[in-house]
Amino acid sequence: MKNYEQLINYFEVQLAKIEYNNQPVELYSPIKYTLSFGGKRIRPVTTLMSCELFCDDFKRALPQAIAIELFHNFTLIHDDIMDNAPIRRGKETVFKKWDSNIAILSGDTLFALAYQYAQQADKEILHETLSVFNKTAIEVCEGQQFDLNYETNNNVSVDEYINMIKLKTGVLFGASMKIGALIGGALTEDANLIYNFGVNIGLGFQLKDDLLDTFGNEGIFGKKTGGDIVSNKKTFLYVKAMELADNDGKEKLFSLYNSENIEPDDKIKQTKELFLKYNVDKAANAEIDKYFDVGILCLDKINIPKDKKKYLLDVAVKMIDRNK
Ligand code: IPE
Ligand code: IPE
Ligand code: MG
Ligand code: MG
Ligand code: MG
Repeated sequence: MKNYEQLINYFEVQLAKIEYNNQPVELYSPIKYTLSFGGKRIRPVTTLMSCELFCDDFKRALPQAIAIELFHNFTLIHDDIMDNAPIRRGKETVFKKWDSNIAILSGDTLFALAYQYAQQADKEILHETLSVFNKTAIEVCEGQQFDLNYETNNNVSVDEYINMIKLKTGVLFGASMKIGALIGGALTEDANLIYNFGVNIGLGFQLKDDLLDTFGNEGIFGKKTGGDIVSNKKTFLYVKAMELADNDGKEKLFSLYNSENIEPDDKIKQTKELFLKYNVDKAANAEIDKYFDVGILCLDKINIPKDKKKYLLDVAVKMIDRNK
């Protein structure tokens, strides 16, 4: 069995071998730019790992792993337009470095390129893996739309928030693993268990992303911190604070998120103080642990020897125990 380091090294080499058309350069430069700054590559690594759980050749899932990473990068390029985010992976975002039209088109191209790889599976399994891919792509867009809708909705509940992050983030982790497992020959029951493992760990991953966006170290995280607060994102921190705060705290938070003329830095500072006052950082960590445990229960139930699951467990820990 290969560990994370071995698989990421293998994957990076393969990803770098992709040959893109050269013209128009305005379309392909942003794609090459986006794919050249690393990123943690967690999703494709889990695809390869999940394949290796069920067969002895992780390379069989390479086209699917590439498809997943290209799809993920498409979502990031478009997400940065929606979130007006200036920095990703420590570099200028595509729409800032070029413009929104270029970001839309290069994202669209990555989406189509992802499908060119997704369609490369044995015909016995292709229908099923493509169905997972399609369902996931639609759900990610649904999640992204809820995320945007909630910017102007002041009554988002924790349940609504969890459903939103399940769609925008959780299901892609589930799909990454399920597709890898199916390519490896997993039976339906095990493929569904690994999907649920991925979705639940993915919820923990997004909860951690929310925490890092507010309390992380910008230089290490590689994204501009405080962006969620400035955009009125209904993160776990916000919805939980609204649940736990007294009336005075609720009013303050509401007015911070609804005032037109507050300076972004003031808004971030005051919102963080309220979050800490109501200990929502601790509540977020407890929530991460909750979904981590649910995920691990699913992993435990997969019908293969326990020692083979070790590296997937390591990845799950890496996904929530991180600062970038
Ligand atoms: C960013 O995903 C989008 C979220 C779901 C939070 P990653 O944090 O995996 O991004 P990269 O690929 O490592 O940059
Ligand atoms: C991103 O959520 C989910 C997708 C890109 C589909 P975020 O908006 O929190 O991701 P980051 O923080 O920009 O990476
Ligand atoms: Mg977003
Ligand atoms: Mg974003
Ligand atoms: Mg984020």
